Amino acid sequence: LPGEAAFDYNTISISANYLLERTKHRPSIGIVCGSGLGSLVDHLKEREAFPYEKIPNFPVSTVAGHDGQVVFGLLNGVPVMCMKGRFHSYEGYPLWKTAMPIRVMKLVGVNSVIVTNAAGGINDKYHVGDVMLIKDHINIPGFAGNSPLVGKNDENFGPRFPGMSNAYDKQLRQEAKNVVKEMGIEESVHEGVYVMLGGPSYETVAELRLLRLLGADAVGMSTVAEVVVARHCGMRVFAFSLVTNKCIMEWDSDEEANHEEVIAAANARKHHLQELVGRMAARMAQ
Ligand code: HPA
Repeated sequence: LPGEAAFDYNTISISANYLLERTKHRPSIGIVCGSGLGSLVDHLKEREAFPYEKIPNFPVSTVAGHDGQVVFGLLNGVPVMCMKGRFHSYEGYPLWKTAMPIRVMKLVGVNSVIVTNAAGGINDKYHVGDVMLIKDHINIPGFAGNSPLVGKNDENFGPRFPGMSNAYDKQLRQEAKNVVKEMGIEESVHEGVYVMLGGPSYETVAELRLLRLLGADAVGMSTVAEVVVARHCGMRVFAFSLVTNKCIMEWDSDEEANHEEVIAAANARKHHLQELVGRMAARMAQ
């Protein structure tokens, strides 16, 4: 199958070993920085950064001026491995490539991941700037046979048919709720279901109404493939969405979703998100 070999144990080992030979850090926690969380890495102590294009076998960025980096460092004293900038399938990558960094994390020694994203709020109770702790997902590309795990299964990572009913660790979600209380931001934090679409176009009103009927609370174009690959190889997953826009649920609305509002909302909330991630990393390391 095309591209399959590049997702196997040997290929991933080469990427992981390149990093292990060059960083002194040995993190057990990985963080995928979605929109609004990229500046998290600027606050890491003893930071060591590796541009994606320097890491052997790593996906090559298709976006001009893309500053993707793997960044190691200490977050509240806890060693972490961060992906600053992720790969999306709408850029043209097969799903396994978008999730390949998760396997690299695994072979670096990571056993728990924090996955973050920007998402549109479908649930009427969600407002711009709110956080949704992800309790479950709906893998729409998966319905059509598009999974990062399609192809020959590499048993070194996990089983052919991995379960997904406990994808979003219950204990970590409880920890997150405690952290949210400590931070005093309960009012703007929810727990809900994330649905992944391929994008890059935003959804029509009819599509959003369908997704609402299906039980989705927030919609985005990332995260699910990474989570499927993380669960396949036995990692614990904590994930959340920043609600960057309210989805347009009415046909007579004059509004339209746009990238600018997504970026603006993400920037406005970045300190919040950084604190949430920092506190979670401290707890997850124990
Ligand atoms: N739809 C899909 N993806 C998104 C959205 C949205 O409204 N907002 C941020 N990412």
